[in-house]
Amino acid sequence: MNVLHFFTVLFLVSNITLAASGLSWLDEVLNILGREMVPYFLETFISMLNGFFDTDHLSFDSKRLRADLKGSLFGQHIASDVVLKTVSSFMTDSNPNKPLVFSFHGTTGTGKSHVTKIIARNLYKKGEQSKHIHLFISDLHFPDKRNLDTYTAQLKQWIHGNVSNFPRSMFIFDEMDRMHPRLIDTLKPFLDNNDNVDGVNLTETLAMVDYCCGFSHSSLINKHLIDHYVPFLPLELKHVRQCVMAEMVHLNMTQDSDLADEVARDMPYYPEEERIYAFKGCKSVRQKLPLYK
Ligand SMILES: Nc1ncnc2c1ncn2[C@@H]1O[C@H](COP(=O)(O)OP(=O)(O)OP(=O)(O)O)[C@@H](O)[C@H]1O
Ligand SMILES: [Mg+2]
Repeated sequence: MNVLHFFTVLFLVSNITLAASGLSWLDEVLNILGREMVPYFLETFISMLNGFFDTDHLSFDSKRLRADLKGSLFGQHIASDVVLKTVSSFMTDSNPNKPLVFSFHGTTGTGKSHVTKIIARNLYKKGEQSKHIHLFISDLHFPDKRNLDTYTAQLKQWIHGNVSNFPRSMFIFDEMDRMHPRLIDTLKPFLDNNDNVDGVNLTETLAMVDYCCGFSHSSLINKHLIDHYVPFLPLELKHVRQCVMAEMVHLNMTQDSDLADEVARDMPYYPEEERIYAFKGCKSVRQKLPLYK
């Protein structure tokens, strides 16, 4: 039985007990507050309890986030700086007035999804596995234009339900450039300065929007709903080398800098002659590395 069910049952039982023992104070309180407000109070009360008892909640530490970014995000000094400052400020703001909304821009394999995972493991004990992280991939979750009405309703319901259950939720919208404008419109009220969207407050919520193909003229941008545009720079050979060294640890291999050089050099770079920027960033480094064992 989860916390929500437990306290709903407790509430009902205590209600019956009070009524049976002739105590009418609860009746009077309910009359003053208005009985129609009971579901609202119950929902707020339960969401507070859920937050309190949630075992996945990790208390925020900006020094830990700084060290994590420094140790595991390579070649992205702008992204690192923006994320550290803005997440730290948002997490320590006792009265935020809007959800924190990032949009990440950059070519493939430069660390957009990676940084989302770094933020996640600094907010939740279960990191990227946390049930409070909700990932939407346009082509996967909203593939068929004919079902737009259903998708719109589901998306609304999904955000509403999850945030009222746990305000410090995180939503990730991948491939935003491929999302239908009507679905983007559905997101607008949630990402705006609204204290309350249909009875749910999103001011503790985080949203990350990934644009795989660089800048896009999305209506979210036009409506100024995005707080921070974060550019991801192309990665160079030295960064790919750092990624290889990190993957060696991940794969329980002994770190070997000569091997890291070899693996990094074997990746494709552009321009063809100068070979300065990695075509795929650090993507598939993990998959390539076992071939060199
Ligand atoms: N800047 C980086 N620092 C450290 N590791 C990185 C970096 N960029 C990428 N990686 C590694 O490469 C993997 C793939 O990168 P990631 O998924 O973050 O790319 P992406 O920018 O989201 O690309 P796409 O646009 O294709 O989604 C990551 O899981 C991570 O291990
Ligand atoms: Mg990605």
